[in-house]
Amino acid sequence: MNFVLLLESIVLIVLYMTSTRPFDKPIPKSPASPYPIVTDFCDIVSGFGRGSAELGIPTANIPIDQIPTAAKDLEQGVYFGFARIQPIGKEERTEPRENHRDVEYNYGKYLEESNGDFDVLPVVFSIGSNPFYHNKHRTLEIHVIHKFKRDFYGAKLKFNILGYIRPELDYISADALITDINKDIIIAKRVLETDEYKKFMQVLS
Ligand SMILES: Cc1cc2nc3c(=O)[nH]c(=O)nc-3n(C[C@H](O)[C@H](O)[C@H](O)COP(=O)(O)O)c2cc1C
Repeated sequence: MNFVLLLESIVLIVLYMTSTRPFDKPIPKSPASPYPIVTDFCDIVSGFGRGSAELGIPTANIPIDQIPTAAKDLEQGVYFGFARIQPIGKEERTEPRENHRDVEYNYGKYLEESNGDFDVLPVVFSIGSNPFYHNKHRTLEIHVIHKFKRDFYGAKLKFNILGYIRPELDYISADALITDINKDIIIAKRVLETDEYKKFMQVLS
């Protein structure tokens, strides 16, 4: 690729990353009502297993009945906040899953402090029925923005909800969904790095 083409590609990528999408809601400078919403420690359960396998974006699924009423009342969509994970000392077990790999419930046994796995970490998540996959029930699926070495099904996760990014959408392809989730991650990281949002890490530490 010659230099001009390379430069053009970089400009297009930067333009794409910085431009707003038609369905995005503006994010206020600090969390506005009903945020922040803070949960208790919730169970991390397995979903359909598509997050890691098909999208390359692993998600921790949280049972809807464990979240506070204020969170249950939220419209379907993509949200952001902070989370903290806690292992629980239980025997490992494997759970069979329809159509996908069996799930290894290790209850967070392989999480590592030296890898920052127990830190308060930024998260981006969806609440809804995944229109691209036509789920029958509402799910809450959290992507923790952090490089874990292993899965941690069965561990507990406490999180706060600090704002809304966009509605959940249907897509023409999994690649289009992946592109939008990656953009959600960039947006969430940028907002959560500001002082007005960063101070809400304390509630979880
Ligand atoms: C930040 C984020 C945004 C998402 N946005 C959408 C969306 O717009 N449409 C959709 O159908 N699913 C969306 N999802 C849900 C994914 O489709 C879902 O997490 C994935 O299919 C894995 O589900 P599973 O754990 O049940 O396998 C989103 C997930 C995350 C973490």
